[in-house]
Amino acid sequence: MALKGPCPALLLLLLVLLPACLALGQRETRHEKFHRQHVDFPKTSAPDARRYCNLLMPRRNLTTDACKPTNTFIHAGPAEVDDVCHSGGTLRTENYYDSKVPFELTICRLAGGAQRPPCNYRGRTSTQQIRVACMGGLPVLDGTNPGVLG
Ligand SMILES: *[C@@H]1O[C@H](CO)[C@@H](O)[C@H](O)[C@H]1NC(C)=O
Repeated sequence: MALKGPCPALLLLLLVLLPACLALGQRETRHEKFHRQHVDFPKTSAPDARRYCNLLMPRRNLTTDACKPTNTFIHAGPAEVDDVCHSGGTLRTENYYDSKVPFELTICRLAGGAQRPPCNYRGRTSTQQIRVACMGGLPVLDGTNPGVLG
């Protein structure tokens, strides 16, 4: 009987924590946000970089309230991108890591005019090393990354 003592308390804890965890699960983490904004693999097909940007920026919710001025999409698998925080990268400053190898990128820039949707982007492709901010061993969104090196 004495062993049963903790169980109601544990059950109560579970009942309190479970909804909290479910609610947390629905909120996008900084790492998930990084992937939504910056990782597209395999690369979504589009006739050219301009049309790619005009397709992907709204699709990734980067033009919801205002047109995000610039954004880089990385065309590599999520695990490969995350690895820049580990063996795939070199620590630069604080929590910033530079990738050891270049990545295929599409860089989107707002093409003048409206700052509110519908947004009009220019795009260019590039293969460059990237710089990411890492937290807890994972790339996170910090407003500036992924920086493009060189
Ligand atoms: C964009 O926002 C809508 C509405 O909030 C949501 O349903 C959708 O999942 C979001 N898309 C992405 C790629 O996060």
